[in-house]
Amino acid sequence: MKHKTLTQFLIEQQRLENALPADVRLLIEVVARACKTISHHVSKGALGNVLGSLDSSNVQGEVQKKLDVLSNEILLEANEWGGNLAAMASEEMDSIYPIPHAYPRGGYLLLFDPLDGSSNIDVNVSIGTIFSVLRAPAEADQREIEEADFLQPGTEQVAAGYAVYGPQTVLVLTVGTGTFGFTLDRETHSWILTHEKISIPEDTSEFAINASNMRHWAEPVRRYIDECLAGTTGPRERNFNMRWVASMVADVHRILCRGGIFMYPWDAREPERAGKLRLMYEANPMAFIVEQAGGAATNGTQRIMELQPQQLHERVSVILGSRNEVERVTRYHHEAQR
Ligand code: AHG
Ligand code: MN
Ligand code: MN
Repeated sequence: MKHKTLTQFLIEQQRLENALPADVRLLIEVVARACKTISHHVSKGALGNVLGSLDSSNVQGEVQKKLDVLSNEILLEANEWGGNLAAMASEEMDSIYPIPHAYPRGGYLLLFDPLDGSSNIDVNVSIGTIFSVLRAPAEADQREIEEADFLQPGTEQVAAGYAVYGPQTVLVLTVGTGTFGFTLDRETHSWILTHEKISIPEDTSEFAINASNMRHWAEPVRRYIDECLAGTTGPRERNFNMRWVASMVADVHRILCRGGIFMYPWDAREPERAGKLRLMYEANPMAFIVEQAGGAATNGTQRIMELQPQQLHERVSVILGSRNEVERVTRYHHEAQR
């Protein structure tokens, strides 16, 4: 079998009518290259002195792990000089990172969660990188890029993807023509297309949620999970299985491979906070990837990709995965509002 590399795949996408501008293709290749470097560091673990925490916190008040900061630096350095971007934004930076004047400025904005699943770094469980690409507003051409230029709904994404650093390193990508996966070949150092046009089963009997928060959940979430737990003798008339990796990349990757529903909903621990996950560099790219694979993603009442962001680091309630289950949880939220 002749393998197709990421480069070949992207060039084919570029040739399809209007599917992919050349500069987006190049910037995806640069992000993919940075993910290869991160994967290399991750795999060294204790031997590479990459485990453990730093003394610093990020803008969300979370203690930074060495790999959070290292991955952020790798992505910034890889992407700043290529000429395709106007600015970047990251979970690990308080404010946006405009492309330095020393380099040519391009027409796109890149957002990322450099290292997702930080709590799993030190215990050798799958972690990843999530990214999203937006257009810089045309009228911003003549001025400095501002944070407000990033505040576009997820429907405006040009591309989105994640890399999962697990038993294999896999890059999953969409440019709006379906969702595709590429496995890193460690002998040739290239990304090989291994997951063609991923399709999430519409139905599932597997859910992913941090059940330790059960007592804080809203009623519709509790109702849904109670019904799953009731099994064959409950209203769903079948048993459900549970998985929770606690790395969104790994939980979403499993759902792309075999279906399932993932929830990190609003809960009453911090009632004024919409959820734990971040809209712009976690929920939106994952929603784009999942929708392009035939799944769905809502915040309980609205499609995630249609939410108008108000802030760069805004949080959101996330319910995504197999379409029929996401629609059911969303319906329970609507019923509870009446
Ligand atoms: P990050 O490591 O980028 O801060 O994200 C961690 C997120 C997400 O990956 C995961 O689904 C969730 O946090 C896990 O949260 P709990 O520890 O509350 O289960
Ligand atoms: Mn994350
Ligand atoms: Mn992170």
